[in-house]
Amino acid sequence: MESHKDYTEALHEHPEVFRRYPLVPVHGIPLMEPIAQQWAPIENFEARPDDLLISTYPKAGTTWMQEIVDLIRSGGDVEKARRAPTYVRIPFLEICSPPPVPSGVDTLVDVPSPRVIKTHLPFQLVPKSFFENNCKIIYVARNAKDNLVSYYFFDRMNLTQPDPGPWDSYVKKFMEGKVAWGSWYDHVRRYWDERANHRILYVFYEDMKEDPAREIHRIKDFLEIDLPEDIVQKITHHTSFQVMRDNPMSNYSTLPNAIFDKKIGTFMRKGEVGDWKNYFTVAQNEAFDADYQHKMEGTTLRFRDVL
Ligand code: A3P
Repeated sequence: MESHKDYTEALHEHPEVFRRYPLVPVHGIPLMEPIAQQWAPIENFEARPDDLLISTYPKAGTTWMQEIVDLIRSGGDVEKARRAPTYVRIPFLEICSPPPVPSGVDTLVDVPSPRVIKTHLPFQLVPKSFFENNCKIIYVARNAKDNLVSYYFFDRMNLTQPDPGPWDSYVKKFMEGKVAWGSWYDHVRRYWDERANHRILYVFYEDMKEDPAREIHRIKDFLEIDLPEDIVQKITHHTSFQVMRDNPMSNYSTLPNAIFDKKIGTFMRKGEVGDWKNYFTVAQNEAFDADYQHKMEGTTLRFRDVL
């Protein structure tokens, strides 16, 4: 990738390649068709020891974490963080569009070290080289119900993922893991378990909402970067929902409507904990909770205030 202008231009110049791609299983995980078609270079991706991976289930707070990490690494340089949109500053490992739009792997090859890389891949699909190189991983998890609501609205405006269909059927699809990147339950559980074996910092969206400065301290400590308190406060402000929503370099407004249709919705939607209460019916909530107890049986992983 030569510059963010070139990459963003490539996205704008080829609206014809984008459509609601069907999901195709890769090792049993439903992924968008172009990813499945170009899977080999992703699986064989060569991580470097100083790569940092930000991993999440979609809609768990990835973009928020990306902005925080970028600012921590620049010592709180807000101007530097405005150099390019999120998806250029921190490329998305497995994202693929049909050619001529470059893939995530294509763009990452040219990124100088130390790189920060985004992924939504479940643990078992993360390229082996990340573990062979003992790379650090920051994982963000969000409670299932808010994650589902966010994903539902996202799938309405993201014209490259399957149409979510009616709300009731989407709730079922989410529970069955029949959405892009598969089961939320398996995703959050597996990374939780793997904390013991790898350098994984597990962060909760709800904790970031409750006390963002506290979580920024945890993240900078994990990254072994010293920052004075006033810089932590500056990063807290710059990564608040309102500031990120109004910043074109962090709010995805630079993507063409052929990808995110801004007439249908905005990427920075609400950014709240507990929004699910506005959408789940009593019956849906009861069915969801019963299924949740079953799927989350035996794990010590707990989400606060929501179940
Ligand atoms: P909502 O749809 O609930 O508003 P991801 O980056 O993983 O796609 O996650 C997107 C979700 O994180 C959206 O949730 C978005 O609004 C929320 N989000 C993004 N930046 C945020 C911030 N600074 N504070 C709180 N929530 C944020």
